[in-house]
Amino acid sequence: MSGRRGLGARWRRRRPLRTRLAVAASAAVALVAVGICVAAFFITRDQMTRQLEFHLTQTANQYAQQYRETGPSAGDTGCRYLAVPCVQAVPAAPSRDPREPYALRVDDTVRAVAAGRHAPYYDQQTVAGRPVRVYVTKLRDRDLALQVALRSDTVRSGVQKAAKALAVVGGAGVLLAAGLGYWVSRTGLAPVARLTATAERIAATRDARHRIELPAGPPGREDEVTRLAASFNTMLGELEQSVAAQRRLVADASHELRTPLTALRTNAELLARADRLTAAQRDRASGALGRQLREVTTLVNDLIELARDEEPQPLVEQVRPAALLEHAVEAARGHWPEITFTARTDGAATRVTVPGVPARLSRLLSNLLDNAAKFSPPGGPVETELTATGDGLELTVRDHGPGIAAADLPHVFDRFYRAETARALPGSGLGLAMARQIARAHRAELTAAQAPGGGALFRLRFPAG
Ligand SMILES: Nc1ncnc2c1ncn2[C@@H]1O[C@H](COP(=O)(O)OP(=O)(O)O)[C@@H](O)[C@H]1O
Ligand SMILES: [Mg+2]
Repeated sequence: MSGRRGLGARWRRRRPLRTRLAVAASAAVALVAVGICVAAFFITRDQMTRQLEFHLTQTANQYAQQYRETGPSAGDTGCRYLAVPCVQAVPAAPSRDPREPYALRVDDTVRAVAAGRHAPYYDQQTVAGRPVRVYVTKLRDRDLALQVALRSDTVRSGVQKAAKALAVVGGAGVLLAAGLGYWVSRTGLAPVARLTATAERIAATRDARHRIELPAGPPGREDEVTRLAASFNTMLGELEQSVAAQRRLVADASHELRTPLTALRTNAELLARADRLTAAQRDRASGALGRQLREVTTLVNDLIELARDEEPQPLVEQVRPAALLEHAVEAARGHWPEITFTARTDGAATRVTVPGVPARLSRLLSNLLDNAAKFSPPGGPVETELTATGDGLELTVRDHGPGIAAADLPHVFDRFYRAETARALPGSGLGLAMARQIARAHRAELTAAQAPGGGALFRLRFPAG
């Protein structure tokens, strides 16, 4: 059994799907064709024999009638002619046999029929080298068996002719099946072949811009392969987008890293010739070097965080935004002692939980709070608020700084975007891009606005459920 399975598996591995489908389809059709021919052969043979036997019984009846009316009459006992039956009457006791020998073979069963001990039956014999079909029955009211024979050459040659014709038809059926199988597999698998070719082209060129051509047709009534091709195209589109996004990120990052790295190198070179600097110059250069190193480190860390887009599923848990906000505000108070942070949570929002990764959501909040503190005037208040709305949860961070100019509003979430006025302050322009990315990964919406009365207002909305 295992050997047979091994063979099958090897066959499947070696042959392309198209060949296997063609062979399977052909075999199925061929089997049906051959089966029908074989059945037709047996039915024809049976019918022809039956017809002969029907003829034999009729002849026997006629002869029996004649025997009763006019006594014994000679049939063609030699079975010489095709259409003329040969007839002989055989007594139950061999002692009463006529003098001439019987033309048809006589045995105990024939005698038993004559004596009424055996039912009438058909038999196959050969007389003078010719096949004959014999019917043996009892003559009523007499101890005689009637043997009626007809040459069955016609049946034999008819059956042979039928066999030949059916063999030809069956052979043609098998050939037709092979052709059909090939055609079915070709047309059936053509879309799959196109799909394979595209996939192979993408694998070879590593270019996700290729698409599979979809047959034009009413939407919603596509076959499975077309649907597969459509999803394949969708997947390619997403792949292309993601590849483009990664490329853009790398390009942006290398561009943005160039300036701080140049400054770093300048300061490092300066410090390498430290013997020619005054102590004050040295201190300034090493201070700048340390600051720049920290900036580059933050930038690189932010980039790494930005580069991963999906939240890792195992880290997702039910988090309570009220508690997260409390912690984030606490931490911000530590970082920015001169700023007054206030946190207000409405009663209904305290217990609400959302699915999320706590560390990432904390990062989002600290990015918002850092910006608010950074752009606030010294001592300025930063107000945070968490409220339960009809369709979810809303968290706002509001400061009393310069706010965001209308021209900058559409861009503040872009990577590396910093408003003209913000350039003097430390930062990389990645904070809000990351914040929005985290929000999206949590199916939340992060928006920026100008607060009524001045300052910036950031709003984070979690959908309900
Ligand atoms: N609270 C705020 N008040 C005013 N402008 C802001 C505020 N938050 C963000 N911005 C603007 O959005 C830009 C992008 O912010 P962000 O991505 O955090 O970068 P960074 O803080 O490194 O400058 C900032 O440079 C600034 O122009
Ligand atoms: Mg920032």
